[in-house]
This record gives sequence, structure tokens and C-alpha cells, in this order.
Amino acid sequence: MSATDLLLTTDRPGLINRGKVRDLFALPDDRLLIVATDRISAFDVVLPAGIPRKGEVLTRLSAYWFDRTAAVVPNHMIAVLDASNAAEYGIDDPALFGRSMVVRRAQPLPVECVVRGYLAGSGWADYRRGGTVSGIALPAGLQQCERLFEPIFTPSTKAAEGHDEPISYEQMEALVGAERAHVMRLRSLALYRYAAEVALERGIIIADTKFEFGMLDGEVTLIDECMTPDSSRFWPVDEYQVGQDQPSFDKQPLRDWLEACGWDFAPPAPVLPDEVVRSTSERYLEAYRRITGSPLPD
Ligand SMILES: Nc1ncnc2c1ncn2[C@@H]1O[C@H](COP(=O)(O)OP(=O)(O)OP(=O)(O)O)[C@@H](O)[C@H]1O
Ligand SMILES: [Mg+2]
Repeated sequence: MSATDLLLTTDRPGLINRGKVRDLFALPDDRLLIVATDRISAFDVVLPAGIPRKGEVLTRLSAYWFDRTAAVVPNHMIAVLDASNAAEYGIDDPALFGRSMVVRRAQPLPVECVVRGYLAGSGWADYRRGGTVSGIALPAGLQQCERLFEPIFTPSTKAAEGHDEPISYEQMEALVGAERAHVMRLRSLALYRYAAEVALERGIIIADTKFEFGMLDGEVTLIDECMTPDSSRFWPVDEYQVGQDQPSFDKQPLRDWLEACGWDFAPPAPVLPDEVVRSTSERYLEAYRRITGSPLPD
């Protein structure tokens, strides 16, 4: 199997965690291997079909942001696994190249750091109920998906099962300590502001995103993934219209098809037609190309 073939499952020793999309393995020397497979979820269900090259897009997009922000926010990345460095990490499976990241293992801090630049999803639902998002009061009269005057930080718990619960900043301080909470908030906002500006110039609105941090050498370090379409809402700027739900840059063809096919959104999900798989793959490649300015390398 080569690096660009579809990969839905992994099989190697040292498995620590299997997420909906990524599999995490222990490596020697306190390192981890994070493998982004080509699995895709929609409406919270992992679909039976994979999306060619999606794993590579997730990993290389994270790497792009980690590279460009490392001087401002320390992160866990050591390298994207490829043919040139795999032997160094004792890995010989080409199916993992280009889609896996070797990282330093941190002690994860138990808070999801959500930043919202636009009023969408659970943020919009929260605002409609009481004019606040996670306890942050916003001006009256905002519309669905409206751009906020400035991005807001709305942390949530990291639930092992089911949905993460929003928490107040004070609750976050109680969980991780005031000093760390402060650093996590500042770093999250700085990362989001920078990336949202870069992406917007290139035709993609990053409406909101989620970061994770961990402790490494006593430092609050960015871990996990970074501003991928899986951890963020990406919207095409040329279709943006305030006051309504926005199409997803990456998943819209898929969602449209799943809604139209009569599926009841309970697992198992239906098998996707080739055309939907192909156009979804193309969307991921296009997101990568637009943001980085280069096609995804082979
Ligand atoms: N450098 C790191 N050190 C330690 N743990 C890390 C590091 N980077 C990421 N992690 C952890 O790896 C896990 C990745 O899990 P992943 O997001 O793939 O699945 P999940 O959170 O279990 O489920 P879901 O698919 O719903 O997100 C997270 O728990 C994250 O905290
Ligand atoms: Mg996760």
C-alpha cells in the first residue's frame, strides 16, 4: 500500500486511542504517532466509506499551522512522517507516510479551548436562548452566522463519551488553575486571529475552532490538531450570507446527499456514491491548496 491509497484502519502495536478519525500510538522516547485515517464522520456518525487523501490533508494542514505559529505558541510537533524520516522513528509502513505526525507526548489539560469568530452551531443556539454564549454577553440583534466584533473564547469540558459541555472561564480556572487558563485563552485567541486572517484572504472563513493544550517541559503547549476542517468550521467566503446556516467548505456535498437520501441519522450510515466521495475528496484538497497556496504533496 502506498501513502496516497485509502486508509480506514490501522494495525500496529502501541495503540493508545482510536478516535472517530485519528488513531494514536506510543513511540519510544516519550513520543506519539498520530495517524489521521481517511475516515469521515457526518451528523456524528462515522461513515462506511473513506475519503481519499483526507488524512493527509488533516495532517499537513495541522503541520502548516504548527510550523507558522511555533515561534509564538509552542506546539508538540516533531515531524510529519515520510519516506525520508520513517526509519528514524522505527516505522516502515508507507501507508502511514504523509498522514501521520510524530509528536512529543504531553500531559493533556482537561479543557477544550473553543474560539468563535462567528455565531454558529451551539454558539448560535446559546445566543438565541438568552443573548449570551457560554456566559459571555453579546450585543442584541445578532443574526445567525454573523461575524462577531471580536472572537470569543468559549471553553468546554473534554467528555470521554458524548458531547462536550460548555463551561465558564471561572470553571476552567478551577480545572487547570488561573495561570494556565490565562495562557490557554491568550494563545487560543492569538492562533485563531492569525489563521482566520490568512484563510480569509484565501477564500475560506474559519468560523470557529477548537484547540487542545498539554503540559510539556512546564510549558502550556499546543497539542492534537490545529485548524483543520475536522476541528473547525470552514465556510466558502464567496457563498457567505449572514442570517442563515452556511455551507461547509469540506462536507457540504456529503451532507446534502445524506439528507436527501432519506437516512434517519442513526448508525449504520448508507454507502456513499462514488461521485459524492470524489467531490468530497476534492473539497479537502481544495481547502489545503487555498490555505497553503500549494497542492497537497504526493
Ligand atoms: N502531544 C500529545 N500528548 C498527549 N496526548 C495528545 C497529544 N496530542 C493529542 N493528544 C490526545 O490524543 C487524543 C486524540 O484523540 P482524537 O481526537 O483522535 O479522538 P477522541 O478525542 O477520542 O475522539 P473524537 O474522534 O471524537 O475527537 C486526544 O485525547 C488528545 O488529547
Ligand atoms: Mg478529539
